[in-house]
Amino acid sequence: QTPKGSCLEAVKIAIDAGYRHIDGAFVYFNEHEVGQAIREKIAEGKIKREDIFYCGKLWNTCHPPELVRPTLEKTLKILQLDYVDLYIIELPMAFKPGDALYPKDENGKFIYHETDLCATWEALEACKDAGLAKSIGVSNFNRRQLEMIMNKPGLKYKPVSNQVECHPYFTQPKLLEFCRQHDIVIVGYSPLGTSRDESWVNVSSPPLLKDPVLNAIGKKYNKTAAQIALRFNVQRGVVVIPKSFNPQRIRENFQIFDFSLTEKEMKEIEALNKNVRYVELLM
Ligand code: A2P
Repeated sequence: QTPKGSCLEAVKIAIDAGYRHIDGAFVYFNEHEVGQAIREKIAEGKIKREDIFYCGKLWNTCHPPELVRPTLEKTLKILQLDYVDLYIIELPMAFKPGDALYPKDENGKFIYHETDLCATWEALEACKDAGLAKSIGVSNFNRRQLEMIMNKPGLKYKPVSNQVECHPYFTQPKLLEFCRQHDIVIVGYSPLGTSRDESWVNVSSPPLLKDPVLNAIGKKYNKTAAQIALRFNVQRGVVVIPKSFNPQRIRENFQIFDFSLTEKEMKEIEALNKNVRYVELLM
């Protein structure tokens, strides 16, 4: 949720800086600005549609299979694009369908909804077959939930990716190994340790970018702690989706392909793991 126009500007700056993967969602309430930025850059001749990799997400209130395609079609209409490159189930649990995106009862408790994730997955498979999504995947799934999809009788497409929190303080060693074995790409969200917004961030872990090891390694390469955190994940095969609305930091976060970390430095950063999430998703 971003101030009006800021997302449009940020995406255009990012595309100019060289970014091609854009991570979005209906619940970010800015897909219209993302779509506009992409279309403006195409019109300018800066990029072609096929250069962009847009990821959209199926929200918790839209898990019943019959809602999946209309929900993706709504996202495409907002984006004014013909397809998304990746469509993922945002969370492995469902809320009551309806207009309220965060439905709550009179006691302020979330109203959940019984759905079958495998049936939701089959509806995503149909979206891929219809050409509305080039690839399909999941987010915030643990190993058991991934296995449930992969062991589904009649599986047509397995998830290509699983988007989860991943950074030097939460390195996901076991899930990463499992996903490697099964050829599922881990996309790491909050790769910079996210913001310090106490309304949704667990601030009991210290701020990632203040970490002395990341800063010391950064000094050696004339890079910032942010660039070291991003390079660490990229170098171990984890896709990163850093977020910034600041032009200078947007560009900074892309300058990570002109150096590499040594094996010893990779091990040192891996050892920073605290197994504590910033984004607890208590719902
Ligand atoms: P800003 O938009 O002012 O740059 P994450 O990607 O882990 O969710 O982190 C996003 C947060 O990190 C935002 O608050 C963003 O603020 C900040 N941020 C993004 N890039 C950098 C950077 N290179 N150095 C410091 N902070 C950054």
